[in-house]
Amino acid sequence: MENKLIVGNIGMMFGMAHVEGAMHFGAEVAAICDMNEKTLRAAGEKYNIPVEKQFTDYHDLINNPDINVISVAIPDQLHKKVSLECLAAGKHVLCEKPLALTREDIEDIVKAAEAADSKFMVGQICRFTPSFAKAKELIDNGTLGEVYFVESEYAHDYMDIVKPDENGVVHWRADPIRHGVVGGGCHAVDLLRWLAGDPIEVFAYGTKKNLPEVSYDDATVALLKFSDDCMGKVFVSTGCKRDYTMRTVIYGTKGTIICDNTSPTMQLFTVDETGHTIEEPQIIELEVNNHNYDKEFEVFAEAILNDTKVITDAREGAKTVEVCLAIVKSSETGTIVKPDYNF
Ligand SMILES: NC(=O)c1ccc[n+]([C@@H]2O[C@H](COP(=O)([O-])OP(=O)(O)OC[C@H]3O[C@@H](n4cnc5c(N)ncnc54)[C@H](O)[C@@H]3O)[C@@H](O)[C@H]2O)c1
Repeated sequence: MENKLIVGNIGMMFGMAHVEGAMHFGAEVAAICDMNEKTLRAAGEKYNIPVEKQFTDYHDLINNPDINVISVAIPDQLHKKVSLECLAAGKHVLCEKPLALTREDIEDIVKAAEAADSKFMVGQICRFTPSFAKAKELIDNGTLGEVYFVESEYAHDYMDIVKPDENGVVHWRADPIRHGVVGGGCHAVDLLRWLAGDPIEVFAYGTKKNLPEVSYDDATVALLKFSDDCMGKVFVSTGCKRDYTMRTVIYGTKGTIICDNTSPTMQLFTVDETGHTIEEPQIIELEVNNHNYDKEFEVFAEAILNDTKVITDAREGAKTVEVCLAIVKSSETGTIVKPDYNF
């Protein structure tokens, strides 16, 4: 069991959030890495990391025996390779979502993570978003009664994000293997799995209207069957013409929640003693923090320090990707697909 966390951070774009999460917790950030030297130096300057602790090769972090935690925030296609190397070196690993992009890769990561003595966490950050955490609390404490329908959407305009670079190199988010449902939609899928359990069947449709740079559908809608008593819907758009949102609605037999990770309030409809809807919803005020990386790192750190289970371990991350892959398969084949959780 560790009593001190010494962190190495790989990837200095979104990965800067991981540096901030570690620093906020009070962990030591011993080294940072990015293969792009300009990006690396800028991050080093921002977080006051000495140049001798900045590396362009992530092996310099893996080979440092003092580092016991490594954060992996590089393109999704590299999650498996780098995470497996970190695990093999005995490091605790915080890997960005999605866990990986293919069935084979998620299986390999689950196998390696469960065989390792160290902890593994996938950064499914929606579980730490104040509005979604409140929704989960209201479900768990029975306020909503029995939940029978959950819906969420991941709508995010990738138009500028997926453009090729100045040398014409295709952006990794436009790689056909990185379907938007897996890459971004995993947020909404993971949220619904957390709130309603593992879907047993999915059926989906997709369209492609907004993103000429990508070959995959840029909008997908999926119906999910969680059980005979609970169903769900996910909408993923990576080309939508609106601001970023994860609008989410949860219907239960005693109440309904309408929330969004970008809104400072949540609406909670409940019933009176006769079972009738109270017309005015409760308005619950919440912090808007749709990337609550401080909490994400804190939860991971506590699991390491107390040797407890990680809330979004490799198996959880794999189940989320498996549902996303089932949605893609369904939209491509026009058939109902049953996710296979047998990793
Ligand atoms: N949780 C969230 O909400 C959220 C948000 C954004 C991104 N992400 C995830 O974070 C990861 C990184 O995304 P991003 O937006 O920072 O991408 P990005 O393309 O903006 O940056 C990736 C960085 O990784 C570096 N890099 C690539 N390969 C490397 C290697 N082998 N060694 C060292 N550095 C390398 C690149 O130079 C670049 O600076 C992805 O997995 C993405 O899905 C998660």
